[in-house]
Amino acid sequence: MKIFLDTANLESIKKFNDMGLLDGITTNPSLMSKEKGNPKDAMAEITSIIKGDVSLEVVSTEYSGMIEEGKRLRQYGENVVVKVPMTPDGLKACKTLSSEGIPVNVTLIFSPNQALLAAKSGAKYVSPFIGRLDDIGQNGMQLIEEIKKIFSHENYNFKTEILVASVRHPMHVVEAAKIGADVVTLPPAVLDKMLGHPLTTIGLENFLKDWEKVKAENPDVKI
Ligand code: G3P
Repeated sequence: MKIFLDTANLESIKKFNDMGLLDGITTNPSLMSKEKGNPKDAMAEITSIIKGDVSLEVVSTEYSGMIEEGKRLRQYGENVVVKVPMTPDGLKACKTLSSEGIPVNVTLIFSPNQALLAAKSGAKYVSPFIGRLDDIGQNGMQLIEEIKKIFSHENYNFKTEILVASVRHPMHVVEAAKIGADVVTLPPAVLDKMLGHPLTTIGLENFLKDWEKVKAENPDVKI
């Protein structure tokens, strides 16, 4: 499963990229709004740090504006994936951009039918928002299972990848991985939680305490 970071925060991107964890980045206008400075600089830096796919989102809601913005966004790098909303104009833009070789991520997917239509329009990725479904009492993970089944080679063999978005906690990641989702995009806080375990912390403390005993008896010892 590929791991993308769902942020425009450069510090977080560098931190996890240095650990070799990041296959890509997803951003959206809300995530951009959380960062200081000109988004143009952030987009340029993100696309140069990260070698994998970087989703940058259009803000136009009509077809020609989406195409214009998509082509402008693509100038940040060959790894730019243009993110468009799941609307009729978004799907039309998806078809045009995809047929010109520009990969598209269709976002704000909340039903299996929306995912099916985005795949038919040529999307490289569909982004189902599972946390927002959970928030309104629907089962976000069930949506991932349904899309997975529809896209599978036993059914229609769509090449479109399932990019699980709106992830809120580490169990979402475990469930998505068990279903076989292609990608999860994670807020930095979720990736931080996945890294840690109390037994790892206690275990390391104990190793270091015990090593102090060894050093007390062998003052010149070095590892
Ligand atoms: O990638 C989409 C994601 O950022 C939405 O997350 O937490 O705003 O539902 P959230």
